[in-house]
Amino acid sequence: MQDESSYILEDFKDGLSHGIKVSNLAFIIAKEMKLDDDICYDIAMAGLLHDVGKLKLSKYLYGRNKEGLTVEEMKYMRTHSKLSYDIIQHYDFSYLTLETVLYHHENYDGSGYPENLKGEDIPIGARVLHAADTFIALISDRPYRAAFDADTAMEIMIDEVKNYDMEVFIAFQRVVNTCDIGKIVSDSEIEFDENMLEIFE
Ligand SMILES: [Fe+2]
Ligand SMILES: [Fe+2]
Repeated sequence: MQDESSYILEDFKDGLSHGIKVSNLAFIIAKEMKLDDDICYDIAMAGLLHDVGKLKLSKYLYGRNKEGLTVEEMKYMRTHSKLSYDIIQHYDFSYLTLETVLYHHENYDGSGYPENLKGEDIPIGARVLHAADTFIALISDRPYRAAFDADTAMEIMIDEVKNYDMEVFIAFQRVVNTCDIGKIVSDSEIEFDENMLEIFE
C-alpha cells in the first residue's frame, strides 16, 4: 500500500519526464515553423513547466485512477494550467512562457480551457505546446492504458484536428515523419532534488 508522499513523489518524477519530452518536441516543432530562436526557447521552457500545477492537485487526487475521476474531480483537474501559471509567475520567466503555460489546453475551435480562446487569440506558444503535449501523452503509458504507437497517436490527433492550428499541425506532422521520435522522447536519467517539492506545499 503506497502512502501519500510516495504517490506525490511518483507524480513528480512522471511530471518531470513528461515535461522534458514535451519540451523537446515543442522546441523542434517551433524550429520547424522557423519561429525566432528566443520564441523557440520560451516555448521549450513552457514545455518543462506546463503541468507543474498538477502536483498541487496530486495530494488531493493521489492514488486515483485518472480515468475514473468524477465530473467534479475532472473540473478540478482542469484548473492545473492556471495553477501552473500561478506558480511560475513568481519567477523570472518571459511573458510568452507564462501565457504558453496558461493556455496549453486551449483548442483552436474554442472548445478548450481555461478561457475557451479560439484561433489566433491563442498565443502561438500554446498552439505549439498543445500539439506536442497531446502527442507525448498519447505515446506514453498511462495508469489506465498502454502507450499508443506513433502512427495510432497521429491518427487519433487527425480525428481531432479541429483542436489544432493547421500551420502548427503540418509542422508537427513533418517533425514526426522525419525525426527520430524515439530519440526526442528518450528518457534520460532524471536527477531531481526532493526539496523542490516544497514549492507545492
Ligand atoms: Fe496540461
Ligand atoms: Fe502535459
